[in-house]
Amino acid sequence: MITLGIESTAHTLGVGIVKDGEVLANSKSMYSPEKGGIHPTEASEHHYGNAVNTLKNALSKAGIQKEDIDSVAYSQGPGIPQCLQIAGVVGRSLSQALDIPLVGVNHCISHIEIGKSETGAQDPVTLYVAGGNSQVIASSEGRYRVFGETIDIAIGNALDKIARKMGIPHPGGPEIEKMAEKGSKLIDLPYVVKGMDFSYSGMVTKVVRMLNKHSKEDLCYSFQEHAFAMLVEATERAMAHLGKKEVLITGGVAANKRLNQMMKEMAEARGGKAYKAPLKYCMDNGAMIAYTGQKMLEHGVETSLDNSTTNPNWRTEQVDIPWL
Ligand code: ATP
Ligand code: FE2
Repeated sequence: MITLGIESTAHTLGVGIVKDGEVLANSKSMYSPEKGGIHPTEASEHHYGNAVNTLKNALSKAGIQKEDIDSVAYSQGPGIPQCLQIAGVVGRSLSQALDIPLVGVNHCISHIEIGKSETGAQDPVTLYVAGGNSQVIASSEGRYRVFGETIDIAIGNALDKIARKMGIPHPGGPEIEKMAEKGSKLIDLPYVVKGMDFSYSGMVTKVVRMLNKHSKEDLCYSFQEHAFAMLVEATERAMAHLGKKEVLITGGVAANKRLNQMMKEMAEARGGKAYKAPLKYCMDNGAMIAYTGQKMLEHGVETSLDNSTTNPNWRTEQVDIPWL
C-alpha cells in the first residue's frame, strides 16, 4: 500500500510518501517568520502557497504518479487552527479526487510511531519536546497516555523566548545550545516539577530579568541544566511508575546533545536505554503522518468526510491505538 501523508500543524508543510512501511519521500517547505514567533495567518498562507509544489516534489522523489497513491493521511490535530486547514483540505481533495481512503492522524502520536519504527524501541516512555509541545507519553491500556507535561509553555517555546530577548533569530534552540557549551557558572533558577508535570514560564522570566547581570553563555548553560534536568526527572518518574526501560526522545528539542546525554545517563543508570529519533523525523514532517496513517488504515481505522474537520486541541489519550 502506498500512503501519502500531509503535515501542517505549525510552521512546516510536509508531504511524505510511505510504501508498506518504508519512507519513499519526505518533502517539506518551512515558514519562517521574519521576526517574532509564528504568525498563524502568514503561516497558513505559506502552506497554501506551497502545497502543490511540495506535493509534486514528494511524488517525483518517490518516482510515482498521484494515481499510484492508495490512501491519504493528514495531520488532523493538535495544532494552530489556520495551519491545520491546509492538510485537511489537501487530504480531503486527494481522497475525493482519487477515490481512496482518508485518515486523520494525531501529530503527537505520529512522532512516537515513526520514532519507534526508526530506532527499534519497543515500548518506550517518549519525551516529546518541541516548540508547541512538551510531554512525557507512554502506552497504557490501548492508548498513548500523557503522564507528564508542561503546565504552561513548551520547552522549545521557552528556548525561543529567551533567544528572542537575546536578539537571536527564531528558532533559538540551536544557538542557545552553542552558547551553553561556552558557559560554566551555574546560576540558580526556579526548578518546578510537580509530580510528573513541569513549568517553564517562571524560569524564562528569571533568565530575562538577569540578562544584564550575567553573560549570555552562563545564562544559556544554567537554563539548559535546570530545564533538561526537569524533563529527565519527569521521564524517570514515569519509567519507574510504569516499569518501562526504554526512553525515546523526539520533537525539535531532541536535537540537543546535552539533553540526550542527560537522558542517556539516567536510562543507563536504571539498566535501560535512551533512543533518539533521527533528526528529520524529530522535526515536523509528512513521512510520520503517512507512516502512522498507513498503520491505522491497516488496522481498520478510517476517517469519514463528516469526521474529517480539524481538531486543534486533540489530546493524545483520546486516540484508540489498535496495535497497543
Ligand atoms: P510542535 O511539534 O510542538 O508543533 P514545532 O513544530 O514548533 O512544535 P519542532 O519543529 O519539532 O517544533 O521543533 C522546533 C523547536 O526545536 C524550536 O523551539 C527550536 O528552538 C527547538 N530546537 C531545535 N534545535 C534545537 C537544539 N539543538 N537544542 C534545543 N532546541 C532546539
Ligand atoms: Fe511536532
